[in-house]
Amino acid sequence: MIHFNKEHLCLEGNEIKYSQPKLGSYAEYYQELTELDDPEKVIYEVEYHDNGLKEGDEGGLFWGISHVMPGTIGDEYHMTKGHLHQKKATGEYYWGLKGEGLLLLVFADNSYELQEVKEGSVHYIPGNTSHRLINSGIEKLSVGACWLTESGHDYVNCHFPIRVVKNGESNVEIINCTSEDKNKS
Ligand SMILES: [Fe+2]
Repeated sequence: MIHFNKEHLCLEGNEIKYSQPKLGSYAEYYQELTELDDPEKVIYEVEYHDNGLKEGDEGGLFWGISHVMPGTIGDEYHMTKGHLHQKKATGEYYWGLKGEGLLLLVFADNSYELQEVKEGSVHYIPGNTSHRLINSGIEKLSVGACWLTESGHDYVNCHFPIRVVKNGESNVEIINCTSEDKNKS
């Protein structure tokens, strides 16, 4: 049994799994990394119900929350690694709990959509769609998620053709990636 703490927007109980990707584990995803950027810095964390199922099991669901910390690497806003589902046809729901940011969806035909994520927003991610959260706000971005146990995560074949950068104090700028970008598959 777990509990959703709606004041602190976190899960409580014993049956919870955590993942805290550090900058060093995906530093090459960012365009500008300097020696001042600490590879130990936690950029985002994921907590989800340990319901006894394993990734790859058929027919089950996982339920959890992603938290993306505010800030930038160079001018680029903090973001999740982003992924496709290994079982490509499977979809997923995200919903905004707190903070402000963007959900980048990249479809099979390479077209993309940026959806505004904020408290109360609901987002359906269709199958065969690369997806990534970007915190373009000034506070932690917390987003609920529900996905199929059989979906799996493919971090290699996903593709993100744009970058979201900070331009001045509050301007969010979209930059198209070039073929030299490391994050382009
Ligand atoms: Fe997903």
